[in-house]
Amino acid sequence: MSVIELTVNDLPVRGEIEPRVHLGDFLRDEQHLTGTHLGCEHGVCGACTVLVDDQPVRSCITFAVACNRQQVRTIEGFGDDELMARLRRSFSQHHALQCGYCTPGMLITARDIVQRFPDADEARIRLELSGNLCRCTGYMGIVAAIKAVLADLKVHPLAEALEEAANRVARVAPALPQSHTFETFTAAPAVPAAPSIPAPANTGSSDQASAQRKGWTAIDDSFVVPFPLEKVWAFMGDLPSVTACLPGAELTEHDDEAVKGKIAIKFGPMSANFAGAARLERNDAAHRAVMRGAGQDNISRSRANGDVTYALSPEAGGTSTRVAVTLEYMLQGPLAQFSRSGLVKDFVRRMIADFGSRITAQLGGSDAPQASPASQKFNMGSLIWSVVWGRIARLFGKQA
Ligand code: FES
Ligand code: FES
Repeated sequence: MSVIELTVNDLPVRGEIEPRVHLGDFLRDEQHLTGTHLGCEHGVCGACTVLVDDQPVRSCITFAVACNRQQVRTIEGFGDDELMARLRRSFSQHHALQCGYCTPGMLITARDIVQRFPDADEARIRLELSGNLCRCTGYMGIVAAIKAVLADLKVHPLAEALEEAANRVARVAPALPQSHTFETFTAAPAVPAAPSIPAPANTGSSDQASAQRKGWTAIDDSFVVPFPLEKVWAFMGDLPSVTACLPGAELTEHDDEAVKGKIAIKFGPMSANFAGAARLERNDAAHRAVMRGAGQDNISRSRANGDVTYALSPEAGGTSTRVAVTLEYMLQGPLAQFSRSGLVKDFVRRMIADFGSRITAQLGGSDAPQASPASQKFNMGSLIWSVVWGRIARLFGKQA
């Protein structure tokens, strides 16, 4: 059991919970907030969307423990929200719901769209809605309802309400110390410190500190390349060659230490094209390097920060090299809802393994990484299928 404390619809709650419980189950079963609907429970349909620290998040793929000390808002928590009131009215007027199953998630996403894209046209609305599925309406009424609210806001602005929404996190934060226990939970005496995340070999204290940064996700993995350490180390310093081993990545500028570039990713119905810059810090004596980068996807306006640390060590009497990789990242914006799921972590591990085989191919003189990686999107959809199959195979004791 883990102890967590958070606010749900401005009410502080505190107690113990199994780490495997996702936020959707926690809200429905422990908080009795059944307005949050669960459809696919795979992060696809959007029915379970809630706000965590004012960002839309899929509660079915977010562990409740990951929301420790955060502010969660469900559809029940918008009673005094003028913007949500306008959306609700507009949904009714434009027949934007039938069975209503998708409606809580749809309204929360609609509110986010209205806040982020005050000048959105129909194409933009449809694009932003693509992560919320409705089996009844055909979307016409939903799109019309959002368009009507956007038009109305031009005539009757909502500056105060929007400002209030933006300030909500800061306003409720001081309430945390007066927490109360979950109805069915046993209160524990104190909230334990966040667990430290294991760092790869040779990782220094500054990286251990960074691994504990709030909101960051860290993933450790390693792969073995059948070449001597010095050869692999020299290769890893050649940024264009390393970039060629990442599908969908493209360098636009680089020198020995800094790069600018972009990477295209497709995740089910969502596409992202992150453009940004990164800096490489290498320690030749320790054969260890850190690439620190940041970028933005201009379609979804999601932002990403990430550090990739890799440390090389000899294996098999020096004929092979183990590359220990730690990826730490934080996503902000609409894509943040995908950052914490186990599926995505498995996907990233598969990506790291794929990266290792591409490096092996390049070092061996093979054409495997293919010339124009920028031309192919990094298709999480197809890779995710292999990850899902791997999970199923493990479940039944088969080899993935
Ligand atoms: Fe479908 Fe969460 S239940 S995305
Ligand atoms: Fe039925 Fe959308 S109104 S699923």
